[in-house]
Amino acid sequence: MMLVVLADGKSLEGDHYQIEEEFFRERGVEFRVEDCATEEEVIAACQDADAVLSVYAPMTEKVIAALPNCKALVRYGIGFDNIDVEAASKRGIAACNIPDYCIPEVATHTMAMLLQFERKIGLLDASVREGQWNPNAGFYSRRLSSLTLGLVGFGNIAQEVAKYAASFEMKIITYDPFISDEVVDRYGVKKVTLEQLFTDADYISAHVPLNEHTHHLINEEAFNKMKNSTVLLNTARGPIIDQTALVKALKEKTIRGACLDVLEHEPLQLDDEILKLEHVVITPHAAFNSEEAKQRLHLRVAETAYAILQGEHPSNILNRQAVVSAKG
Ligand SMILES: NC(=O)c1ccc[n+]([C@@H]2O[C@H](COP(=O)([O-])OP(=O)(O)OC[C@H]3O[C@@H](n4cnc5c(N)ncnc54)[C@H](O)[C@@H]3O)[C@@H](O)[C@H]2O)c1
Repeated sequence: MMLVVLADGKSLEGDHYQIEEEFFRERGVEFRVEDCATEEEVIAACQDADAVLSVYAPMTEKVIAALPNCKALVRYGIGFDNIDVEAASKRGIAACNIPDYCIPEVATHTMAMLLQFERKIGLLDASVREGQWNPNAGFYSRRLSSLTLGLVGFGNIAQEVAKYAASFEMKIITYDPFISDEVVDRYGVKKVTLEQLFTDADYISAHVPLNEHTHHLINEEAFNKMKNSTVLLNTARGPIIDQTALVKALKEKTIRGACLDVLEHEPLQLDDEILKLEHVVITPHAAFNSEEAKQRLHLRVAETAYAILQGEHPSNILNRQAVVSAKG
C-alpha cells in the first residue's frame, strides 16, 4: 500500500484534511497526519513515505536525502520557499505547489488593505465607539483616481489586483522583467524600472516569489527613493521587505505607512516594535483565506500527490524537466 504523509497537519486549520483522508481512502492509499516542525522530526515521521505533503515543515536537502521512497513533495500553497527544489531535482523527486487556489482572495485582501488604509474605516469606527461624531478625526484621504499603484511582480495575483485597481481608476505601473509587454499592455498597465516604481508610486505592492533575488528587494535604499506619502503593501512574503529598514522608514516618516499580511518573522511577537507604530495595518498571513480557496487547496494537494504516484506529470510540477529526465 502506498503511503502519503502530511508532515505538519497542525499548521492547517481545523479538520479540513478530511478531504485528503476521504480522497486517499477511496483510492486505497494510506494517509497519515504528523506534527513536525524540525528537520529531525520530518525525517523520523516521513522516511517511509511515497509522497510528503507540507505547509511550513522544512523540506531541506538533509530531509530530502533521508526519504528513500519519496516521489513527490507537495506544498499547501503558492509559495514554496520551505522546499529545496534543487535538492528534489537531484533525486528526481517532483516538487509541486498549488499555483491557482487563492488568486482572487489575495488580490481582494491587497485591495481591502489599500482601501482600509486610505479610507481609515477602522480608525473612524473606533472614534465613533469612543463617543466622537467627527468626520475629520485623524482622517486624511485622497481620491483613488489621483493615485498610482506600483506592482512589484506582475504574475497571477498582481494581474488580478490590476483588474480591481483599474475599476477604481488608479494609474497602475509594474516592474517585472520576466513578463511580456503584451501581457502588461492587456491590463492597461505601464512597465517601468524598479527605481521608477519606487519613485513614482503612491501605493507599492509586493507580488514576487521569495528567493535569493527578491530577499530584501525593498530595503533602506528603496525607502529613500519613495515619496513621504507612499504606503507599502505586502501580501507576498515577509522577507521581501527589510523589516528593520521599514520600521526606521516609518519612524522617520520617510514613507507614510504599511499594510502587511506577511512579516519577516511569523508569527509576529506582541512586543515587536512594528506594533507600536502608527499607520501600520497588520493581518496574520490570512490573505489566502476563504472557504472556496481552502477546499480547492486540499483537493488539489491530494490530486497532485496521487497523480505523481500514478506516474503522471501534472502541470504544477515545479521541476518538471528534472523529473522527466530522471525517469529516462
Ligand atoms: N499572503 C498569502 O496568503 C499568500 C497566498 C498566496 C500567495 N502568496 C504570495 O504571493 C506572491 C505572488 O504569488 P503569484 O501567485 O502572483 O505568483 P506568480 O508566480 O504568478 O507571479 C510572480 C511574478 O513575480 C515575477 N518575478 C519573479 N522574480 C522577480 C523579480 N526579481 N523582480 C520582479 N518580478 C519578479 C515573476 O515574473 C512573476 O510574474 C508569492 O510571494 C506568493 O508566495 C501569499
